[in-house]
Amino acid sequence: MLSPLVTMDPGKLDPEEIFSHLPPNRCGEADRRYMNEVLDDGFGNRESAHMLERFEAAFAQKFGVEFAISHNSGSGTLLSCLLAAGVGPGDEVIVPTLTMAATAFVVIQCGAVPVFADSDPDTFNIDPADVERKITPFTKAIIPVSIFGLPPDFDPLLALAERHNLTIVEDDAQCYLASYKGRLVGTIGHAASLSLQGSKHMTTGGDGGMVITDDEEYARGIRKAAIQGYRTLDARPGSTLIPRDERQDWSFERHDRMGFNFRMSAMQAALGLGQLERLDYLVAARRYIGAQYEAAIREEKCEWLIPPHVPQDCTHTYWCYTCKLDEEALGVDWRTFRKTFIEHGGDGLYGAWVPVHLEPIFQTMAFYGPRERAPNFDPRYEGSVKRYSRGDCPNVESLQSRLCLFKAGMQTLDRVNGQVEALRATIRHFA
Ligand SMILES: Cc1ncc(COP(=O)(O)O)c(C=O)c1O
Repeated sequence: MLSPLVTMDPGKLDPEEIFSHLPPNRCGEADRRYMNEVLDDGFGNRESAHMLERFEAAFAQKFGVEFAISHNSGSGTLLSCLLAAGVGPGDEVIVPTLTMAATAFVVIQCGAVPVFADSDPDTFNIDPADVERKITPFTKAIIPVSIFGLPPDFDPLLALAERHNLTIVEDDAQCYLASYKGRLVGTIGHAASLSLQGSKHMTTGGDGGMVITDDEEYARGIRKAAIQGYRTLDARPGSTLIPRDERQDWSFERHDRMGFNFRMSAMQAALGLGQLERLDYLVAARRYIGAQYEAAIREEKCEWLIPPHVPQDCTHTYWCYTCKLDEEALGVDWRTFRKTFIEHGGDGLYGAWVPVHLEPIFQTMAFYGPRERAPNFDPRYEGSVKRYSRGDCPNVESLQSRLCLFKAGMQTLDRVNGQVEALRATIRHFA
């Protein structure tokens, strides 16, 4: 099902061909055509041009799954998945600490307790051995994140989930069309959450998200959580409208669950439908960019930038190209390296997020005002996680300040070449 563009050795990709499919402003002919359909159809309390239904159906087909449930962010998606899995007060959910904070915030937003797992120092992905150590009788779910675009080691996580009856929600916000041991990432856990925010492989105009799953009952629950808990919602793509006769009757009872309004708009869906058509090229471009950075490091014989380890049976889809800086070997610190990269034409580079458990909000635990109101102190919670401390995740704590996140979302070959050349020049500068 995966096209060769997203599975072949990225060294063999033809960059001219790939980038010829990418509009530099990320809005192509198809995107405009679909948006015009929406504009022509107009707006009301109904789905314009059936665009959400079409986008969801196309998305599900692309991933070879039964159900796709559109959302307005890749945070709302995670929250819907946890709520529909029954996560609530008294429960624990295991998340990596090396992630964007939304992965952990959604656990708090369910009234449950996030438990942070450490990551592998070479792949930067959640460490299944640490997950196993952190499972308790209160654990209800695990959210493995495909960090920076690389799938985590799913098999041991699936085995743990099976043994302890846990839900696995893949957080694939940063990872599109990667493969893990021949399986498509997004189709491995019970459900997968993808972000369509502006920095991601594809975007529905700056924000958006999608959940995919094969489990009909779970899909129905996710859609209800995303759309006000409407009783009449179904799992099927586009089944977001309530039949008129029922809806208009005075006796119509609408809500059999609690839900949010995480609805995507038809204009967003139109953009998404257009982007989906060139997703293979969008992913191939990032794989090409990752391979170019890696070639620069290898060919310039740079020993102080250490590329990410990509296990043989996985593909990396490079939301960004992340490597470790060996400051001792280089003789300068991360900030000096970054400044030098910019001086040589680099378009900046990001550091990794502060490990989430050390962010001020997790240190103060003032999620709902006073610390005592944190889910960790709810009388229904019988577990032992009462605070978050340095030492909880030692690998990430020692690794995080040395990570360099090079941009990998460039849409033109000129910009790619400019950034890779800047990296080569920086390496030569320190040689
Ligand atoms: C790993 C991860 N999870 C969740 C999110 C949240 O997605 P969104 O910004 O679409 O809400 C992001 C966004 O950057 C992310 O990187």
